[in-house]
Amino acid sequence: MKILRIEELVFGAEDAAAGVKYFEDWGLENLGANGTGADFGMPSGQVIRVRAAGDASLPSTLEKGSTLREEFWGVDNEASLDEIERELSRDREVRRGNDGSLHTRDPHGFALGFRVAQPKTPPADPVPSRLNKPFDTKLRAKPKRIGHVVNWITKAKEREGAEFYVDRLGFRVSDRAPDFGDFLRAAGSLDHHNLGMFNFRDFAGYGHIAFEVASFDEVMVGGQFMKKAGWKPQNKPGRHIVGSNTYWNFVSPCGGSTEYFSDMDMMDDEWQPRVWEKFPGAHIWSTD
Ligand SMILES: [Fe+2]
Repeated sequence: MKILRIEELVFGAEDAAAGVKYFEDWGLENLGANGTGADFGMPSGQVIRVRAAGDASLPSTLEKGSTLREEFWGVDNEASLDEIERELSRDREVRRGNDGSLHTRDPHGFALGFRVAQPKTPPADPVPSRLNKPFDTKLRAKPKRIGHVVNWITKAKEREGAEFYVDRLGFRVSDRAPDFGDFLRAAGSLDHHNLGMFNFRDFAGYGHIAFEVASFDEVMVGGQFMKKAGWKPQNKPGRHIVGSNTYWNFVSPCGGSTEYFSDMDMMDDEWQPRVWEKFPGAHIWSTD
């Protein structure tokens, strides 16, 4: 059984129109109005759905207001889906949707979905040669794919939650800091993390999602475009220590924040998980 990646994320926004505008400015392709909001795509084939917070079709939430309402993980095939259904049905309700997808909740109470991944091949990065080719002064951020989701968790549920993802769903630990949280990657992914579970606020709720762009230049032009459009940065651009990626986060009207990132560490099963006595800090460098 292999989970490959985040497949789809469904948001409930108190101001769905603002949520739609936000993801348009972010650089996603608007696939069209749907229900109480709109759907967005990217070259990877992953999907973001924005809906009104009061939309009755959305799963209930741990939090009031705008937030992530359901996170779908993409698996390699139907047999994996059946295996997840068997495994998780042992101690929780698992429902099959009309389209064959699975719906359940993790130990923290987050609504989870699973479906067979529908990957599209992202277009190759532009040839980096600069011969007779001045830098594109109109460069915009074009997110290639969703890399990770980060949720806040309570310390009381931390261990049970980690066992759920690692022992039962096959996630690998890349880094673990007991005073901060876990960075996990899906079995079929080389990303340093596809799922972060951070404990230091000691509450359960949605944190952020991260979109990979081609370069640190795209992180910066994307962020500057968002600032000019009136959206609020959550931090200053920098390069993380854990995961090593460059980043810039913005406060989203769909709840939490979204992150542009590039150049993240990749890990396979040769990687020995690091356990930090003390979390080493947020960044190697920052423009702060
Ligand atoms: Fe992140």
